[in-house]
Amino acid sequence: MSGRFWVMVAVVMALLGSGVAGAQAKGADAEGHAWWQHAVFYEIYPRSFADSNGDGVGDLNGITSKMDYLRELGVDAIWITPCYPSPQVDFGYDVSDYENIDPMYGTLGDFDRMVKAGRERGIRIIMDFVPNHTSDQHAWFLDSKSSRTAAHRDWYIWRDGKGPGKPPNNWISLFGGPAWKYDATTDQYYYHFFYAAQPDLNWRNPAVEKAMLDTTRWWYKRGVAGFRLDAVDTLFEDPELRDDPVLPGVNKQGDPNTENVYNTNLPEVHTELKKLRKVADEAGAVLIGETWTSNIAQLDKYYGNGGDELQMPMDFMFTTVNKLSAAEFRRQVAAVNSARGWPVFVIGNHDLVRSYNRYGNGKNNDAIAKLMAAFYLTLRGTPIMYYGEEIGMENNDPTRREDVKDPIGRTGWPAEKGRDGERTPMQWNGAANAGFSEKAPWLPVPASYKTHNVAAEEKNPDSVLSLYKKVLALRHTNEALMEGSYTALNEDDANVMAYLRSYKGKAVLVALNMSGERREARFKVGGLRALVASGAVAKGGDVELEPFGEMIAEVNP
Ligand code: NOJ
Repeated sequence: MSGRFWVMVAVVMALLGSGVAGAQAKGADAEGHAWWQHAVFYEIYPRSFADSNGDGVGDLNGITSKMDYLRELGVDAIWITPCYPSPQVDFGYDVSDYENIDPMYGTLGDFDRMVKAGRERGIRIIMDFVPNHTSDQHAWFLDSKSSRTAAHRDWYIWRDGKGPGKPPNNWISLFGGPAWKYDATTDQYYYHFFYAAQPDLNWRNPAVEKAMLDTTRWWYKRGVAGFRLDAVDTLFEDPELRDDPVLPGVNKQGDPNTENVYNTNLPEVHTELKKLRKVADEAGAVLIGETWTSNIAQLDKYYGNGGDELQMPMDFMFTTVNKLSAAEFRRQVAAVNSARGWPVFVIGNHDLVRSYNRYGNGKNNDAIAKLMAAFYLTLRGTPIMYYGEEIGMENNDPTRREDVKDPIGRTGWPAEKGRDGERTPMQWNGAANAGFSEKAPWLPVPASYKTHNVAAEEKNPDSVLSLYKKVLALRHTNEALMEGSYTALNEDDANVMAYLRSYKGKAVLVALNMSGERREARFKVGGLRALVASGAVAKGGDVELEPFGEMIAEVNP
């Protein structure tokens, strides 16, 4: 039987189906979808988005000043990485006060104004919650380390060493060196999965759990619509502190490779996620999780039984594909569609080399950036964009060790250059410092800001930004894209990835040329009407695609 026959069957079957069924939850639409299932999320690294006071570092008033830009782009919710008071060892992921704003970013009053400005434009605010560790300058830790009998002693994980100079076990910090730091004041070691300046909280202590749940309540009352939960898999450790298995070789920091069997992904994590979810539900909020899962069984656990944990565990599977591969993406979309919960798609963030470089081939990077947008923004699921992705911002890695700001880039140089490259200032225009700040910014902008900036791209109908805007506008108005099922098409085509999104007798076909050659894809449909296309034309049921071209079209059966 011909491939074309099966394409026709798939099209007809998909058109007969009427999208995703589901019980209608509170505030949900006819298909049972909550607001966050139709929303487009956008991650903002506040140090680097917009600087309102000219000190070279971004701030909350800067974000507020760009709300109209975000609205016009088609963003429904912004996730702001930590902006709480912090010594900034890990640029905010070392929190010294969970219920305030770092003066470098503004005040609680500025925060409230930002929430209001967002609300007026239909943009919700998602905060980043760091539950695993605090800063070593947090009042809880300062008390904890002061004596073995301090009120907060058991809020962190203190243990005796195995002997002079010997930590309690072989656990390695993700950021280099042993995960234990000796503290002479009380002659014990404390545990830190990340930097030594980020001591792990002891979630087995009910007082810690209560303080953290109360913190989320405090922010919900202040108007936040949810949290992105940092490093959730690291919340608990084996109470017996068993050694992790040692694997062959060393990592980029020169430490032995180990498998984090006894200090990540313990079952207790899920007990706490259920509790955090209960509080979130009382506030009608959404929980997004930084969940580094490597398979669907692991991802499924984070949705919980009957959807009682994270609504949006992040799926990083796309970020593991460094070269465009229709077969690999097809496999991953099928896998995530088989998961227990609603898919969440991510192609970049502040810990990963920018998608522009990761998928780009160095020659057709703009076309590839558009292709990736047409791809992940038309899938069944919620996308989380990373600021600057929409203008084709590239990584700007430091070239000298002395310029590196991210500590892991200094300790791991040159194998590990750190994460500065993906955290550079947003490129607003072609003026000095890309219009981000009047002063030299905390990280330098790449030379490409002259062409890749908001002002220039807004004027150019063929820019990466213009393509993002068109796709996002379509996504918000087209029912098949919002509600529809997903059906893979032409699955034996090694170059053109194609699929249908169908809902109530209407369908949108997406065809993406993942190769550097011109391609033709044939679909057994009556006709196609282009909705958004770049480097592609539809002729009857066929699509002709330029290298890395994409077609999003309405199907006439
Ligand atoms: C994950 C965050 O995304 C990363 O930036 C941070 O360094 C670690 N968690 C530690 O909080």
